Amino acid sequence: MHDSSRCHYRSKEQRGAHSLSSPKALWPQHVGIIMDGNGRWANTRGWKRVQGHIQGADLVMSVVEEAISLNLKALSLFCFSTENWKRPDDEVNFLMDLMYKFAESQMERMHKLNIKIRVFGQYHRAPERLRKQLDIASELTKNNTGLSLNFLVSYGGRLDILKAAQETATLVQEGKIKPEDITEELFSQHLYTKDVIDPDLIIRTSGEFRISNFMLWQSAYAEFYVIDKLWPEFKREDLRKACEYFSNRDRRFGGVNTTTNQPTSLQDPKKETPPHV
Ligand code: FPP
Repeated sequence: MHDSSRCHYRSKEQRGAHSLSSPKALWPQHVGIIMDGNGRWANTRGWKRVQGHIQGADLVMSVVEEAISLNLKALSLFCFSTENWKRPDDEVNFLMDLMYKFAESQMERMHKLNIKIRVFGQYHRAPERLRKQLDIASELTKNNTGLSLNFLVSYGGRLDILKAAQETATLVQEGKIKPEDITEELFSQHLYTKDVIDPDLIIRTSGEFRISNFMLWQSAYAEFYVIDKLWPEFKREDLRKACEYFSNRDRRFGGVNTTTNQPTSLQDPKKETPPHV
């Protein structure tokens, strides 16, 4: 069934400088980005992988600012997955440090931009100074009403679902609910994203068609946009192009688009019966 609450129509004026010519274009509300290709970007230049991470971190704020000017409600950045702990210690430590420096140096700027920062994942596994900095940033911006900026740190979609399963199982064990009370809505309330709308557009850089454990439950109906550029090459206009691509999609959520399809009745007397039904 088509769920109109998932759709977000904007007038040309509301869509601002980046508006499309169509007066009722569909516009994404929550964009997730799988920022891939830092290592390859550095390798092709004969540099160390971490140089790619530095370049990748440097462009994050410009993408965040573009997300605001595109009127997105939420932006989720896949910064470090549960699987990324398997990387060499040096690289893991470098990434933790980079995220710390980013959070520390950009927190006030994000606060001024009315951004609400959240962190999803087992970030308690991260070094203490990063953990604390992320908590400080989340606390500082918790009452902001602008872009919801979600940093996925030590995040995995399977972990997210497992956590929700454990929490709902505990509710059953405690006799607070019955197994049949577990609905999609109730289950969703135990995901990291409990108060964020599902992503409707997922962008992946570096040309790979993989979800890589990014928001598995929440991406059930997301549109996927894969761009060949490596993450350090990503530009703010690439985010706009992805949103424009989204605006041209025919989103049916498992239903049928009644504006572009004939009625489903086979007994329409005005029409010739098709040969194979
Ligand atoms: C994947 O590229 C990228 C990561 C695992 C880290 C992403 C981190 C950043 C962009 C910088 C830190 C983020 C913030 C918000 C400060 P890869 O290293 O797997 O690249 P490869 O596939 O080419 O090896």
